[in-house]
Amino acid sequence: MKERKIEITVYEAERPEELAPADTTLLREAANATKNAYTPYSKFNVGAALLLSNGEIICGSNQENAAFPSGLCAERVVLFYAGSRYPDAAIRAIAISSATGGKENPHPVYPCGACRQVLLECEHRAGHPIKVIMGSASKVHVVHSAKDLLPLCFELKEK
Ligand code: THU
Repeated sequence: MKERKIEITVYEAERPEELAPADTTLLREAANATKNAYTPYSKFNVGAALLLSNGEIICGSNQENAAFPSGLCAERVVLFYAGSRYPDAAIRAIAISSATGGKENPHPVYPCGACRQVLLECEHRAGHPIKVIMGSASKVHVVHSAKDLLPLCFELKEK
């Protein structure tokens, strides 16, 4: 059997000045969106902000439900909203932030597996990489493509 190594590149920033100004803006929007999360069960608020190819920024937050699987992560809330509201505007970047008890969590929150799969399909649909910016004002991790978050992904392919 042959060994194959898969490498990904993650950029890490400890200060907002290390980020591109547009990425800082998107991350602030994501942090702001945590305020609209509905999280009576987990009390863990997540905000996601998308930059679209038309320059518009749209935001979403996680929405929970007493019938647990019926809730949805912030990322999928905003990605599906973008798809239904702006089907022709490609997504350029997504920023993700989290908060607990009204305070921003310092550590980056990474998208769950299901959100990575949805993000990757949005990237295929956009036809170019989507930058993923994950973090807070004090620590940010960036990958330049959704592909980096999901190597060996599922694809509907015949043969
Ligand atoms: N959550 C997100 O919104 N995004 C993720 O990528 C992971 C988890 C939400 C789901 C649930 O409302 C809460 O965080 C705790 O799991």
